[in-house]
Amino acid sequence: MFKYHNPSKIIFETGILENKKKLKEIIGDGEYCIFTYSDDVFKEYTNQIIDALGQPKLIVNNILPNPDYKNLKDICKEFSEKCENIKFAIALGGGSVIDTAKFLVLGKGNFEKTVNYLEKKVTDFNSTDIDLISIPTTAGTGSELTCWATIWDEENQRKHSLIHPSLFSKISIFDSKLTLSLPKKITIETSLDAMSHSFESIWNINSNPVSNIHARNSISLILKNLPLLIQDLKNINLREEIMRASMFAGLAFSNTKTAISHSISYPITLKYKIPHGIACSFTLPIILKSVQGLDQTCDKNIKSLFPNFEDAPNKLREFFENLNVSTNFRDYIGNANDWDLIVKDAFGGERGKNFIGSYKKVLEAQEFLGY
Ligand SMILES: NC(=O)c1ccc[n+]([C@@H]2O[C@H](COP(=O)([O-])OP(=O)(O)OC[C@H]3O[C@@H](n4cnc5c(N)ncnc54)[C@H](O)[C@@H]3O)[C@@H](O)[C@H]2O)c1
Ligand SMILES: [Fe+2]
Repeated sequence: MFKYHNPSKIIFETGILENKKKLKEIIGDGEYCIFTYSDDVFKEYTNQIIDALGQPKLIVNNILPNPDYKNLKDICKEFSEKCENIKFAIALGGGSVIDTAKFLVLGKGNFEKTVNYLEKKVTDFNSTDIDLISIPTTAGTGSELTCWATIWDEENQRKHSLIHPSLFSKISIFDSKLTLSLPKKITIETSLDAMSHSFESIWNINSNPVSNIHARNSISLILKNLPLLIQDLKNINLREEIMRASMFAGLAFSNTKTAISHSISYPITLKYKIPHGIACSFTLPIILKSVQGLDQTCDKNIKSLFPNFEDAPNKLREFFENLNVSTNFRDYIGNANDWDLIVKDAFGGERGKNFIGSYKKVLEAQEFLGY
């Protein structure tokens, strides 16, 4: 027996943001607000939405990477004053914008109440009646297709998961054209995040036949198209393929959550300031090696992606080398003792418990691959 559930309506159409009539038909009427970043390119995208839907009640355009308690508090105040009765919120941006919108929408801007729920000080929380419409501009985090948000508390060096069934986006609108403005570095980081979501949903105790199909689709699209895209960043067909891959990754891990590579990544982002997409993916070759032979379904998935099963970890390592992304922890952490502690702790973390493998096998794999 297995279960699979994702209620988000998917609209995948390149250039749809420029189509006023269609956008209006899809999103509909009602009072709303927009969350986005402050960069110029987002002013243009925001204006396209306003042209189609009319003036919003509020535009929050000061979202910073990695939503943190510190900046969420101020945004909450503004939101609760102006947006309590809005019908929907549009998140136009990457994971940071979509996760910020989730925090705001769930608690309707009540910072303390949302934090209490997040830190499990209250176990129950009403569903939100504000619909979330996500328009991802990275490809990506998959946050548009998950019902959780990653909330950071840098001051206390902690990372939280805000999870609630009502945090699934009502509509996820994928317009690959929006990703044409992504620089090479963020293109690589965000694509590797999507790849990690897919691998992590495969070596996961919650994996199922539906998540596995989406994960395999996603990984093969990234293996094939990312090396081409970084040589040709304005190629809309390649942008579409990577957006598709990110969407499949979202569909996969929305039902499994992530696993050990993500658990390892959180302290690396908090303490060593390594961007999420790199921190959660540079360990993939080691983790891949560590799970080989552990589980028949997982092995079958790996074989479908890498016909030479034995050589799969090396092939994945070469893929990273071609992108100029190191898979050696020393390039991020420096100190081998700190690294060992991070890996050990990661097994006790919420996401680490989803992993089908073991600490011993990870250490063996690390040694085998010569790290
Ligand atoms: N909720 C989930 O399911 C989930 C999953 C994975 C990651 N996350 C979280 O998402 C966050 C990372 O999100 P992200 O990787 O999408 O990046 P981001 O949203 O943090 O954005 C990174 C940078 O990219 C820029 N940018 C975004 N789109 C652009 C575009 N189209 N053109 C030019 N610049 C653009 C932004 O201005 C920003 O400076 C992390 O906090 C991570 O923890 C959430
Ligand atoms: Fe991630």
